[in-house]
Amino acid sequence: MASRAKRSGGGGAANMDGGTRAALIAGLNEDLSGELGAIVQYLIYAAKTSGPFRPELQQFFLKEVPDEQGHAQFLANKIVALGGEPTTSPRPTPPARDNHAMLVNVLAAEKRAIADYTKRARQAESFGDKGLQVQLENIISDETGHYEETERILREWRE
Ligand SMILES: [Fe+2]
Ligand SMILES: [Fe+2]
Repeated sequence: MASRAKRSGGGGAANMDGGTRAALIAGLNEDLSGELGAIVQYLIYAAKTSGPFRPELQQFFLKEVPDEQGHAQFLANKIVALGGEPTTSPRPTPPARDNHAMLVNVLAAEKRAIADYTKRARQAESFGDKGLQVQLENIISDETGHYEETERILREWRE
């Protein structure tokens, strides 16, 4: 009854219960692990590119790193702001023996990122943090750009 009396129509993080907050922090940490993994994946894959298109592919991978670093930095700060402890464990990078396999793995990682952030934006909305929801939607836009560029390279691939 006390909690019902406290309800307000305005939302806001302060109104939300600990369970919702803990679930949001856990989700954001999963995303942070993915971003740390993406940085490693792009750095290592850039190093492993080979063949006549190595210069272009290396640059393609390397230019994603600052984007993913920005996402990781945002998430780490937000997790601390919410009272959580940010993870330092990157999601493992799947092995890939050639350029095509690396691009396929990157496509899968970006697809997962879009799905995870879509879920997280909904969580942020029910948590009552509109600012976080908007930031996560902006990240979805970045990841969609990464996904589409990778998909277009693979679309024209002749093995
Ligand atoms: Fe990212
Ligand atoms: Fe990305």
